Amino acid sequence: MKHAYICQLILEIMIPSLQYQKPGQFEETRYEKIHNVIFEDRNTASKEVAREIADIIQTNDKLHKKTVLGLATGSSPIKVYEELVRMHQKEGLSFKNVISFNLDEYYGLQPDDINSYHYFMNEYLFKHIDILPENVHIPDGNLPLDKVKDSCINYEQLIRDAGGLDFQLLGIGRSGHIGFNEPGSHKNSRTRLITLNHITRVDAAPTFKGINKVPRKAVTMGIASIMQSKRIVLLAWGEKKAEIVRETVEGNISSDVPATYLQSHPNTSFVLDKDAAGKLTRIDTPWLVRDVQWHNQMVKKAVVWLSQKLNKSILKLTDQDYNENSLAELIAEQGNSYDLNIDIFNALQHTITGWPGGKPNADDTNRPERAVPAKKRVIVFSPHPDDDVISMGGTLDRLISQGHDVHVVYQTSGSNAVSDDDTLKFLNVYQYLFPKQKEINDLIDFIQHKDQTKKDIEDLKKVKAFIRRSEATAAVKFLGLDKQKVHFLDLPFYDKGPVLKRTIGKDDIDKLKHIIEEINPHQIFAAGDLADPHGTHRITFDLLKLVMKQNLKAFKDIRVWLYRGAWDEFEVYDIDMAVPMSPMQLQKKRHAIFYHQTQKDNVMFKGDDEREFWERVEERNMALAKRYNDLGFADYEAIEAFKKLEVN
Ligand code: F6R
Repeated sequence: MKHAYICQLILEIMIPSLQYQKPGQFEETRYEKIHNVIFEDRNTASKEVAREIADIIQTNDKLHKKTVLGLATGSSPIKVYEELVRMHQKEGLSFKNVISFNLDEYYGLQPDDINSYHYFMNEYLFKHIDILPENVHIPDGNLPLDKVKDSCINYEQLIRDAGGLDFQLLGIGRSGHIGFNEPGSHKNSRTRLITLNHITRVDAAPTFKGINKVPRKAVTMGIASIMQSKRIVLLAWGEKKAEIVRETVEGNISSDVPATYLQSHPNTSFVLDKDAAGKLTRIDTPWLVRDVQWHNQMVKKAVVWLSQKLNKSILKLTDQDYNENSLAELIAEQGNSYDLNIDIFNALQHTITGWPGGKPNADDTNRPERAVPAKKRVIVFSPHPDDDVISMGGTLDRLISQGHDVHVVYQTSGSNAVSDDDTLKFLNVYQYLFPKQKEINDLIDFIQHKDQTKKDIEDLKKVKAFIRRSEATAAVKFLGLDKQKVHFLDLPFYDKGPVLKRTIGKDDIDKLKHIIEEINPHQIFAAGDLADPHGTHRITFDLLKLVMKQNLKAFKDIRVWLYRGAWDEFEVYDIDMAVPMSPMQLQKKRHAIFYHQTQKDNVMFKGDDEREFWERVEERNMALAKRYNDLGFADYEAIEAFKKLEVN
């Protein structure tokens, strides 16, 4: 026990260092085949990586040697580039002796297309530093097909002529690709033209504004080209990457997950934030690899895990079940399975309530929400104008019908997700009624002759935003909410440049703060859905946390409940409030979602799931109810789940 603890301590002390360590050296990392370092957040992690790159450049500078960098694009390396730019501007880091080779480029895009990797690299790095233009190399994605092969052979030659890569920066796709080496790529592959995997195109769809506009092919450096780099660092952020990170680090080498080839590279480190590392065995089920400190949350997690693993309800778990599944220590500490099972069962049972705003005149010692005041002021924040009904339509319905003063606050206009076709339908009706309206005719003309690589004009965005406003207002009206209780914030970050460049500004903070002060709520419901493919939910979540941190006193008496959007669900052990729905309530929720007509059928941003939002959320709510039932709780039709957010 003591020994294991010391090993763990050693590991923790080593964590901030990116120095390559042989994976699996310690008991705790025995499932891992790639060295990885886990950081609290992506900013700190990116700074460490930028520091390592700067060190290599500066060491080589002293030896009068050039540094050859392999560079990646996408959302993962952005903060690394920002930090390198900062070091150049503030600390004199020079790139005069750097030669760079980018991993890949979409096939068929002009270099000045806003979605090309040429454009990306220029925007985020090259135009801010002193690298010599002749030292910058990016695969050419703009050649006729019969010229591509020679250009790829030439690209490999250029890397060899430069002396090979000193350092290769990588991201990882959910398909398991590195560069654009999609599943099936051979370990001997070199720079070549490839066909993009469906999931890769889905992930790129938000930036291209629709999957149909994402190129089908790309030119990428091969696995062999990458593996020849002296040092490789792969970055992965967010829970969206957790599954593929686990498969890559703990699975077997296979062309099905090309990133697993990195297991045989002698100097590769994965740099992860805690969400991306969340499914590694030592993080997800630490009791399998080390002695753990059994705090309440960990105990809950272990019991739920065991119940799900053995397909047995909690109250049926025996001492033997615990002992045979690496939980002997938990039983030793807690005494016996009988008491432990009852404790956890009760704790979970107490999270289930039909009174999301608190039950008036009831003892609330074991209830998720306070009984007083009986009528609460409630803010439901909705990042887009439909997340409210999709994510918590049943709970919203209850809050309204139980007489609380509910305000729904839509944070962004959501105009980006209204297709031109849908907009045209509305404009055509208007044109029919008022054929001489110049503005309408101009807009129709704009859509019909639109250059798809350019942004929408302001007037068109306004029309699209208005369509979503009408849909959202109608949906909550159907649930019984007054028009005066519906607010549209139109947070400015949403319209700030391309998706990847959106950041929180002071104007966003002020607007959010202001509405909270104005309504002065007892309860806030907000999106804690980090897996949203285009990041809007993550930004609104970060924004809320920021405002809370800045106003701790004001938030002392406000309970903040997080919900998940259409994509993922909380784990049962993480849920602090579970609101069951009857079949009728579920139907009502579906009906409310239907009001969002432009988000049905041909929805632009639905991620890698072909089902419509109402279908997947309904399935998800029902699956959660089933999970509760399997653990031994009552058999509900569906459940919406919330997690309490504590900020201090
Ligand atoms: C980009 C590249 C890709 C990305 C990967 C992850 O040059 O080669 O492998 O690194 O698709 O993309 P993000 O970082 O956007 O999740």
